[in-house]
Amino acid sequence: MTDIRDGEIMSQPTAAELQHQIIPMLQEIQEQLGYIPKEAVDWLSNQLRVSSQEIFGVATFYNHFRLNPPGRHEIRVCLGTACHVGGGEKLLDTIREKLGIESGKTTDDGQYSLERVACVGACARSPAVVLDDEVHGRMTQRSLKRLLDKVEREDKKQSKMME
Ligand code: FES
Repeated sequence: MTDIRDGEIMSQPTAAELQHQIIPMLQEIQEQLGYIPKEAVDWLSNQLRVSSQEIFGVATFYNHFRLNPPGRHEIRVCLGTACHVGGGEKLLDTIREKLGIESGKTTDDGQYSLERVACVGACARSPAVVLDDEVHGRMTQRSLKRLLDKVEREDKKQSKMME
């Protein structure tokens, strides 16, 4: 794509070139900070001379980019084909109801963050939920509630011990 300014032909990056440039930088930021804060997007926008909206567009297109700080416990609900067919959406609803957050968000107390992800490689045990990097397969709404209750109990126990 070309742009003529003051009689000079300027070359504008195509959307694909822009993505190619932005993605590694977003990955680096997420690796360093655990997520991509708005300030980092604004900084990138200045560095690359592209709008913040374009950078947000790339970051939100790829669901491995996190725009909120991760919670102490990271919950990822698999909605790949096998898990979707096996009831992944119901599991997502269970978490939304119990924790009061949508996918991509973190609870106000910073305890839990929720993400919907594609296949986590446990299709034979679908539907699957990943809690703090541990895959839990053949989940039901009931077993998921039990798992979250267990995490809550353990956290309470741990904080009592710290007092
Ligand atoms: S689709 Fe969920 S583990 Fe493969």
